[in-house]
Amino acid sequence: MQQVNLGIIGGGTVGSGVYEALARNGSLLASRIGANVKVHRVAVRDLKKKRATAIPASLLTTDWREVVFDPNVQLIAELIGGTTTAREIILAALKLGKPVVTANKALLSAHGEELFAAAKKYGTNLYYEASVCGGIPIIKSLREGFVGNRINALYGIVNGTCNYILTRMKLEGADFGAVLADAQKLGYAETPPDLDIDGHDAAHKIGILASLAHGFWVKPKKVFVDGIRHVSALDIKYAGELGYTIKLIGTVKKSENSSRVQVSVYPTLVPNSHVLASVNGVFNAVFVRGDIVGDSLFYGRGAGKDATASSVLSDIGDAVLDLKTGIKNRLPAFVPHERAGAVAPISEVVSQYFVRLNVVDKPGVLAKIATIFGQANIGISSVIQPEGEEGESVPLIFMLHYATNGVAAKALAKIANLPTVKGKPVMIRVENFE
Ligand code: NAP
Ligand code: HSE
Repeated sequence: MQQVNLGIIGGGTVGSGVYEALARNGSLLASRIGANVKVHRVAVRDLKKKRATAIPASLLTTDWREVVFDPNVQLIAELIGGTTTAREIILAALKLGKPVVTANKALLSAHGEELFAAAKKYGTNLYYEASVCGGIPIIKSLREGFVGNRINALYGIVNGTCNYILTRMKLEGADFGAVLADAQKLGYAETPPDLDIDGHDAAHKIGILASLAHGFWVKPKKVFVDGIRHVSALDIKYAGELGYTIKLIGTVKKSENSSRVQVSVYPTLVPNSHVLASVNGVFNAVFVRGDIVGDSLFYGRGAGKDATASSVLSDIGDAVLDLKTGIKNRLPAFVPHERAGAVAPISEVVSQYFVRLNVVDKPGVLAKIATIFGQANIGISSVIQPEGEEGESVPLIFMLHYATNGVAAKALAKIANLPTVKGKPVMIRVENFE
């Protein structure tokens, strides 16, 4: 049987997962793809580091060049993360005509176009299933399964760390910091974890999915991002009373009669009756609405060693098959097809809203706030005001009908200036998946 020698750069959570998965299922993979994949070298940063996975010392090196430039290595897996050395590694491998598998969404999001162009120029390919949603084969599904559909909407829980934190805050009333530390211990979080909790990791992933769905590369700075740092136990509680669960949702939505696409990541109130509300823990889910297929749902583990290794193995399988058949561009890494497409600025995006204010409980306060919403032509669909002592500060919660983000932000700024409103208003968007 033909043998393909694999060079792995990175022996951390994902790299060690790939090493273990190949040790466990390598012969199964070989029988399915008709070639044996052998790990030839592994580059790490620190040879002395104690590793849970015993990668033989004879395979290890601290110099990635020894792996990439080794003439006996035919396929490279870049699994170190970051956007500097990882970019250098991938470009060097592609230049040698060696296919590369990567899980690096930050790098793809920032430099995807350059890397895809290099793969094309040097007659090879770049594979990136593991970059979005851990073990869920969403890249393959968009590129192959839905190739005949226009993707009218896509909603995703695409960050395992945030979903793990929000789930434990809701179900156990757990403290944000303690749950984040657990997510780090479990190998879910990025380094630094700010990438997760401030929404940037989800933005990288949703940008990649938007690019595949709409055929123009969505640069990271075009994605509107708001993370979960400010989501409080109070918001989770009141959202629950209204029949909603707060999730960090990535949205890709094209409005009718417009070439502009909403591409955003923000905490969102999801109705408890919707399937995304019950996606818990480290699980991810992507809800895709195609014009031919209708609604589809993908669900699975979004982070962690084994789930991510499963997607890396899928790419290794594809890369080996392409190497075997000598087909360079059966499915290029990215196919541009809507060059006139553009991302809609958030001020133009229409949403519904949950607003939580802290107000002094005295006559006329509610009327003044309702007047400001009314003047902005924003309808109120419900109000909660828990009973409090007159003259004291109490929470006041509104559910608002559709308005553009621009109009809603202006109305909230006016409300924030009222002397009876204490502290910064909280505004969380609501999605009813209509
Ligand atoms: P990690 O646990 O921090 O591992 C990074 C590995 O890269 C370590 O083994 C480190 O060596 C090695 N490394 C760093 N710089 C290097 C260099 N210059 N030369 C050689 N080796 C170097 O990270 P990870 O969680 O495995 O993530 C890797 C990639 O997968 C990232 O792009 C991440 O976004 C992506 N990803 C992660 C997950 C997940 O659940 N963790 C899921 C999907 C995608 P030492 O071990 O010696 O420090
Ligand atoms: N830090 C990422 C997450 C890893 O929590 O989803 C998977 O991409």
